[in-house]
Amino acid sequence: MLIFGSFVFAQESFITSIEYGKMLYENPRGIGCVECHGQAGEGKRITEYYHKKKLITLQGPAINHLTFEAFAKALGENKKVMPKYYLTKSEIQAIFEYIESKNSTK
Ligand code: HEC
Repeated sequence: MLIFGSFVFAQESFITSIEYGKMLYENPRGIGCVECHGQAGEGKRITEYYHKKKLITLQGPAINHLTFEAFAKALGENKKVMPKYYLTKSEIQAIFEYIESKNSTK
């Protein structure tokens, strides 16, 4: 994700902002975990909408209590709401450690 981002900005002269917008619109790889799982992985309400007159709440679950195995496994699976990221093991490790650090200071 980071590599992808810096590639695009380094090549700025070869891609217009409209093209970049199109790429993001069609393939939003950069959407942050924080948007759906909250600042410290505590979980977050994503949105609410009506489906057949019933209010549906879309919720990002808490991910601050998982083992590394469960965490990494979930990221390798196709989920219903969460996009698939294709992160490397070390990227997953880094995110996992970040969430742990956010939760150990409390
Ligand atoms: C668009 C919102 C969204 C984004 C962005 C997102 N997630 Fe999720 N995540 C979810 C939802 C919703 C679930 C529950 C499964 C489902 O319905 O997709 C989930 C499930 C998970 C789980 C499994 C939780 C469990 O209890 O098994 C983990 C771990 C996780 N996400 C980590 C991440 C990480 C790390 C990122 C960033 C790389 C991320 N998520 C980005 C919405 C999101």
